[in-house]
Amino acid sequence: MRAYIASTAFYVPTDVVTNAELISRYGIDTTNEWIVQRTGIEQRHFAADGTGTSDIALPAAREAIERAGLVPDDIDLIIFATLTPEHAFPGSGCYLQAMLGIPGVPAMDIRNQCSGFLYGLATARSFVETGMYKNVLLVGGEKHSVGLDLSTAGRSVACLFGDGAGAVVVRSTDDPERGIHWMNLGADGRHADVLVQRVWNTRTRPFIKLNEDGDGIVPKADLWTHMDGKHVFKNAVEKMLLSIMGMCMENKIDPTELDLVVCHQANMRINEYVRDQLGLPAEKVPNNIQKYGNTTAATIPILLSELERDGRLKPGMKVALVGFGSGFTWGSAYLVW
Ligand code: UT7
Repeated sequence: MRAYIASTAFYVPTDVVTNAELISRYGIDTTNEWIVQRTGIEQRHFAADGTGTSDIALPAAREAIERAGLVPDDIDLIIFATLTPEHAFPGSGCYLQAMLGIPGVPAMDIRNQCSGFLYGLATARSFVETGMYKNVLLVGGEKHSVGLDLSTAGRSVACLFGDGAGAVVVRSTDDPERGIHWMNLGADGRHADVLVQRVWNTRTRPFIKLNEDGDGIVPKADLWTHMDGKHVFKNAVEKMLLSIMGMCMENKIDPTELDLVVCHQANMRINEYVRDQLGLPAEKVPNNIQKYGNTTAATIPILLSELERDGRLKPGMKVALVGFGSGFTWGSAYLVW
């Protein structure tokens, strides 16, 4: 028995924020040219106040279930990959489960940042292939806009991220060719503080600082994501490349035999570098970061869904998935679609 991705879907909030609007709406001292040249990003989507991460995920989840020919009651496990859950606990998976109207179905969150979807896929695959669960709903969803310093001081991070969700249903197939043939995950916690948000800290009591009146105060700097961009960039290129090369060796295929390499969308320059090193043409390493920015756990399922909808991802294709992010964490998968 082999697990496969039976359906894909995605949702992004309707409010489109172009690079020019980072300047006009928020007064950030930046230029469209700087952002496009360094990252490839032209715009991102921001969700409205009052919308939580699970609300963004709900339309994608419903559509993925429908496209798999199922109804919510058929789902027997929810895996929600996110670094922006509504609350510290419980996880977004529980909120999503309630909205899908399927009480009793197990729901777990995966907190592995940009690699969250791949960690979730490995988890879904294991549950399906051991026979424990039949229909697993795997979601990657983020609401980044509320955690960005949308001022000039935060511009190097604020210009990168967007809100959105992608969802897939993982099931088993009897087709000997099709499905998830191989996966690999990795982490290197020595770099944990290189890309981090310290809004709470359980090393100190209480875990959020209090002022003299006993009210909670979060130092502004702790609200926002901290990133050593150059260090992340260098490690992303190296680990993504090594991951794909390892995948090809293990599966005895040449990178040029791959029909599609679906990379996490953190920076178009990272993906172009990986593509050039693999000697692949542009159409085999597609990007959509131009439209959505970095939606962390949602980038890979959003891109898969777009590729499937516009006919670039077809049954029988040899597909590699690869991602890298905070932790550091990374992962890759080899699938026959
Ligand atoms: O998905 C999680 C993984 N994340 C990533 O993979 C991100 C990896 N890193 C990157 O994508 C890049 O490092 C960034 C796009 C974040 C930054 O690009 P960079 O080429 O590393 O630029 P930098 O941070 O070294 O900044 C260069 C200059 C600085 O000015 P000075 O100090 O040289 O005068 C920045 O202040 O560019 C300035 N800058 C900006 N200027 C205009 C930084 N952000 C901006 C901005 N607009 N938005």
